[in-house]
Amino acid sequence: MSTLRTPASTPRTTDPDWWRDAVVYQVYPRSFADSDADGLGDLAGITSRVPYLASLGVDAVWLSPFFPSPLADGGYDVADYRDVDRRFGTLDDFDALVRAAHEHDIRVIVDIVPNHTSDEHAWFRQALAAAPGSPERARYVFRDGAGVDGELPPSDWVSNFGGSAWTRVADGQWYLHLFAPEQPDLDWSNPEVRADFEDTLRFWSDRGVDGFRVDVAHGLAKDLSTPYRPSDEHALPLDGSDPLYDRDEVHEIFRAWRLVLDEYDPPRAAVAEAWAPGPRRVLYARPSELGQAFNFDLLEAPFDATAFREIVDRNLSASAESGASSTWVLSNHDVVRHATRYGLPDGTDTDAWLMTDGTAPALDRTKGLRRARAATLLMLALPGSSYVYQGEELGLEESVAIPHELLQDPKWIRTGHTVKGRDGCRVPIPWTTSGPSFGFGAVAPHLPQPADFGASSVEAEDGDPASTLSLYRAATAARRDLQRGEDLIWLDSPAGVVAFARHDGWRSVTNFGTEPVPLPDGEVVVASGPLADGLLPGETTVWLR
Ligand code: NOJ
Repeated sequence: MSTLRTPASTPRTTDPDWWRDAVVYQVYPRSFADSDADGLGDLAGITSRVPYLASLGVDAVWLSPFFPSPLADGGYDVADYRDVDRRFGTLDDFDALVRAAHEHDIRVIVDIVPNHTSDEHAWFRQALAAAPGSPERARYVFRDGAGVDGELPPSDWVSNFGGSAWTRVADGQWYLHLFAPEQPDLDWSNPEVRADFEDTLRFWSDRGVDGFRVDVAHGLAKDLSTPYRPSDEHALPLDGSDPLYDRDEVHEIFRAWRLVLDEYDPPRAAVAEAWAPGPRRVLYARPSELGQAFNFDLLEAPFDATAFREIVDRNLSASAESGASSTWVLSNHDVVRHATRYGLPDGTDTDAWLMTDGTAPALDRTKGLRRARAATLLMLALPGSSYVYQGEELGLEESVAIPHELLQDPKWIRTGHTVKGRDGCRVPIPWTTSGPSFGFGAVAPHLPQPADFGASSVEAEDGDPASTLSLYRAATAARRDLQRGEDLIWLDSPAGVVAFARHDGWRSVTNFGTEPVPLPDGEVVVASGPLADGLLPGETTVWLR
């Protein structure tokens, strides 16, 4: 009989299904709170803000990577999967953070980046020092080039950050990187790679981590047989026939991970970042695999009643079939913040808009925030878990005017300065109305904050009943009382209005239009904006009971 492994720290409650309907708060560690005045956020900074997370009423915190990393891609280039980058602290600091979170009954999710390592990982250094064909190279994807002398990349595969997905090394071979050249792809057909990641899952689980967010989960299994087939990430075939993404063999890896996650009581949770069409995406979320997969449909949708209703319907059916619970996301560290997206005309190409420093087309800030609040309140009424991104609870907008020389995103560099990338949603959080970095730390932060950031700070919004912070707090508190089960019943409503009931009379009604509609009967629990005269104003959500 196998014995269950015992983590070093556990939350106060033990519900094994906590993840099914959790509100998960994503922390981007570099930009959350800087405790040691180096301009970068760190683990001790996060620990100092655990009471704030508790006041937000979130069930879990997901930490984007804090592992040793040259930061070529914001930490998604990991040099050592079982340590903490010294700029962020130590393993002791990590343990202290987990203990503090657990004392407040907040679960901790860490990011696992299995598709690629950093080029400074010991394995990649060994691979470069070893000969072609060696076991050291076989952990990665090294190939001879095409052309007469191997001077051409082995295939036409392109990196997600622009340019070829192959880089040549001194002895003439090429290695594959679906992202930056500093992020060489691992070869997951190699048993040593598989065993090592399973040990990493145990390493963090033993320290008390409650779950894992799995980066690029759909990329691990690759068809590397020659001749290479072309791949286009943005035209994912529905049948798993792409050579690089969402191949059927990938599921075997996650079935093996589930066995590791189930070595703990309660089993560790996991959520896949898997860019695949809906019916194939939920395969990653099967109970025999990771349990959940991110659903990015809302994040890509316009603020539109038909679009939202269709997305909710489709995802709830898909998760019911797979046995998973659904997930919902409006913002994260990779996209333009939703308060900004919704303030732009529908269909705006945000990459092009960022290149104008946010000047054309014009941004309607009031509309953006009003819609963002309405969309968030709708999301928090849905069955399943909602992932919220640091700063959205303050109504933060995308920072559009970061001087070009300070941009850090590899996309900016790899596209020859034609795509700015994701720095605008990664600007450090404003905690106070003034100070050198609005309370983020004692010195200037690693990315500059807008001059008017103080007005959106925690200090400014705390205690203001009309603030976005107060809205998030009210919504999570009400949700805790109200959320039970995973049923949703659509209610009749006028065009442009999305209304549904959960249970015991709890209803959420969103007016996506701009004209007020009659407010349905019932006690108002929370509203995303002011209500008056028995009307539900445009671009507003209300919860009723
Ligand atoms: C997805 C992460 O969210 C993103 O930030 C990162 O650049 C890529 N994966 C590569 O790891």
